[in-house]
Amino acid sequence: MIKLAPRTRFFYYNDLATALAYKEAASPYTHSLNGTWQFCYLQSPREVPEAFIAGDYDAIDWQTIKVPGHMELQGYGKPNYTNISFPIPVDPEATPAKNPTGLYFRRFTFKQQLARQILRFDGVDSTFKVWLNGQLVGDGHGSRLMTEFDVTDLLVSGENTIAVQVQKWSQYSFLEDQDQWWLSGIFRDVTIVDEGGLDDLQITPQYQKGQWQIEVEVQANTQLSGKVYFADEPIAETVLPAGKTVFTIPKPHEWTDETPNLYTLVVEDETAGALVPMRFGLRRVEMIDDQICLNGVPVLFNGVNRHEFNPETGRALTQDYILSEVTQIKRAGINAIRTSHYPNTPYFYDVCDELGLLVIDECDLETHGMYVTEMPTDDPYWQGEFVSRAERMVHRDFNHPSIVIWSLGNESDFGPNHVAQAAAIRRLDPSRLIHYEGDRETEVADMYSTMYTSVEDIEKRAVKLTHQKPHILCEYGHAMGNGAGSLQDYQDVFRLYKSVQGGFIWEWKDHGLKQDTLDGPKYVWGGAFGEPVNDGTFCIDGLVRPDRVPSPGLLEYEHVIQPFQFFVAQNHVVVKNLYHFQTTQDMVLRWRLEVAGEKVAGGQVALPALEPGALSPVLALDLPETIGADALLDLSVQTTTQQGVFEAGAQLASDQVAYQGLPAQPDAPTTVSQTAAMVTITRGPLTVTVDRGTGNITQLAQAGAQLLAGDMALTLDRLPISNDMNVVAERQKKRIATLFARCESIQLTQNDDTVMLAIRQRVAPPAINWGIELAVTLWVSAAGVTIYTKGWFDGEKPTEVPRIGYQLPLTTTVKAVDWFGRGLGESYPDSLDAAPLGHYQLNRDQWGFPYVVPQESGNRMGVRWATIMTAQGSNLHVDGLNPLNLNVVGGDGQPLGNQSADQVRLDARVQALGSNSCGPLPLKRYRLYTDPFDFTVTLSLQK
Ligand code: GAL
Ligand code: MG
Repeated sequence: MIKLAPRTRFFYYNDLATALAYKEAASPYTHSLNGTWQFCYLQSPREVPEAFIAGDYDAIDWQTIKVPGHMELQGYGKPNYTNISFPIPVDPEATPAKNPTGLYFRRFTFKQQLARQILRFDGVDSTFKVWLNGQLVGDGHGSRLMTEFDVTDLLVSGENTIAVQVQKWSQYSFLEDQDQWWLSGIFRDVTIVDEGGLDDLQITPQYQKGQWQIEVEVQANTQLSGKVYFADEPIAETVLPAGKTVFTIPKPHEWTDETPNLYTLVVEDETAGALVPMRFGLRRVEMIDDQICLNGVPVLFNGVNRHEFNPETGRALTQDYILSEVTQIKRAGINAIRTSHYPNTPYFYDVCDELGLLVIDECDLETHGMYVTEMPTDDPYWQGEFVSRAERMVHRDFNHPSIVIWSLGNESDFGPNHVAQAAAIRRLDPSRLIHYEGDRETEVADMYSTMYTSVEDIEKRAVKLTHQKPHILCEYGHAMGNGAGSLQDYQDVFRLYKSVQGGFIWEWKDHGLKQDTLDGPKYVWGGAFGEPVNDGTFCIDGLVRPDRVPSPGLLEYEHVIQPFQFFVAQNHVVVKNLYHFQTTQDMVLRWRLEVAGEKVAGGQVALPALEPGALSPVLALDLPETIGADALLDLSVQTTTQQGVFEAGAQLASDQVAYQGLPAQPDAPTTVSQTAAMVTITRGPLTVTVDRGTGNITQLAQAGAQLLAGDMALTLDRLPISNDMNVVAERQKKRIATLFARCESIQLTQNDDTVMLAIRQRVAPPAINWGIELAVTLWVSAAGVTIYTKGWFDGEKPTEVPRIGYQLPLTTTVKAVDWFGRGLGESYPDSLDAAPLGHYQLNRDQWGFPYVVPQESGNRMGVRWATIMTAQGSNLHVDGLNPLNLNVVGGDGQPLGNQSADQVRLDARVQALGSNSCGPLPLKRYRLYTDPFDFTVTLSLQK
């Protein structure tokens, strides 16, 4: 057989240094046929001249073309952009009568050095035939797959000729209906590789009982041995008989996207006296506890879909272009790429291995526009082709550590041929996972993958607590033109739910082709070439322009996925390392305080080394004593040394927070004591107790005087008003009055006088399936206790609730309230005009209005601060970073009366009143929907 079976792509080298440098062009055994070829453009294969078939090349009237390149971008035919629709009749059995055909021809000199010569095509769109020295070698198809022929017997030492006939349309075009420009020709490298006795080489890293090994499988007809190098140092060696050899890697350095440690196995072919280097990484991909894990750690994909595209050369990309583009992606903090929707130029994976990117390698298979007739996945005729496309991809790309998932293709429905394809992949490579979005029931896929799913639908599935395959969004955030919005909202749900493991923005780059006009160059979309079937601007949907200038959408995405999170309270900052594998070092926290746009202070603090997921100690910023109103604190993390693709001084993350200047209490010794049940923080006279089971504050005490009679809990209910009479049944059905809190995690950090807790809680009713995910940051500092609360409703949640906020059951009654906010009387979102902002004071018996039928009363909106004086024990002082709602009701939730203890409510938002007892519900703009919320309160106690 002259056409080779699918195998790994490799090159022979003649010395170790070049082999380790891994630059194929530097190998003396690599003979590139790239360059200018003779070319003849025809309207159909029926026009191919006899002379061409007969090898009488001089009789042909040649023009020229660049290889690699597309015919349509070099003046032969025109580009056509379609998304789904085929620009030709949907009939794989009959390609169109007019079928652009290119004849390629060139002479080259060659000197055989090793035992056999392989002619390798890395990509020809869509089918081709090749002749060497006038002899037919064979044919090929599968536009984005490698085709190799053994030409040892056809090549001569000295001058040779090669001729190739390429057709634009074929039956295989119907399997290659990706959303992109139809561009044909020899668009990737053509090479003759000189080889010894090695046929194929697969390296599988294996992890067992804390040890890393590699399994090397070779097919060869000669004596081979191998040496493993790490950073140019030999660390292991072995003989490599045909078949499998397993050996241990001492002192292993694992590969992850954040720590892309690469090894090279250098195979020595003694007979040939030459070397074959193959890179690999020590990493394992597996499902643990229904999560996709890399080296045992759950992965969060902050990815992009990337088409191969250059505005001048289409899908023909140089190595420099690929390197600089993938570097740009890595610098943006993106950690994953889906090769939408076909295997990429081989060099792309070398770059991903080196820079550290997680790759979903996708099969060259999309039958989208076929839906108007039949689906190929159901047709046995196509099964062989489905399977072989998958096999060719897996064989070619097997050794790249960056590839963690194989994808069966895109938008081709789902059916038996996919099942066969998946089975073939598992047979060839059980070490990776399988993705296919069309497999809605995850019959063969390891993950549930969807496109463009709404945040609400993601979170609906995520809260189903039964065991289920993880969810990823293989496409989301459609970055067409100005967009996409809500990337932060997506990121929030990715981070909140363990069954949701992130996604891939559609898409990285606009594919606008560059056209020179009288006014200079411009980028054009579908229709620019008069295509009768085209999808217009749908190819202009990237995070960067065709010239790779970042759009605001990319800046937004970079910010949303940045690797550090900032927590701030007054002059205290905590930085969290969001990397999964990387211990960060050589970083500084830079800060700048501005009032009304003017910088008033700034500086930088070194960040200690932070383990993945760790919080920094509390960092105290040296802020001025008095700071004006409306102050903003700008924070950033920067590198101080060159780190991977980041220069020294590169900014990796930034944030801006409103600064809350509060009168500080004196320095005081701070202690933390922890048990399995409680965390207790004492700062001077103040004690704060947090229950590890619920995550709630269970006690606030000043010099021993306890303020709380029960948990300070997030609650949603209040006594119904008469105008609620038609909604109370719904509230009861949703059981909003009986919520259970559960703590999911607590992280603690501190310095000498300040402590911070990062608490994750879930609050949910009994019996029915909805809840609230809470991220609470609790600070105990000189200002008192600052509580920053962020919440997300999920599941079959109520559409509206009466209020959202904390309820503080007191050990005593309230005597009086002194506050700045709306007053003097009560205020609600749709009834507040008679309650101007001001500084007010009222005694308990004047607080609520005595409605004849007892009901909710007494809320004060717009509260900046308040002091709640109690009958005995401590007074409670409240500061809101943003205006709050404040209310005081009886400890039993009833209007204030003769209770022996009261309850304070500090609410982010409260529901409006309306007049629905006989008229309409509140206007929409006043209603309290169950959207995500956040608010901050600072509490301090005075005895
Ligand atoms: C998806 C498809 C992508 C692209 C996108 C729209 O359905 O997988 O290839 O067409 O829509 O831009
Ligand atoms: Mg499509």
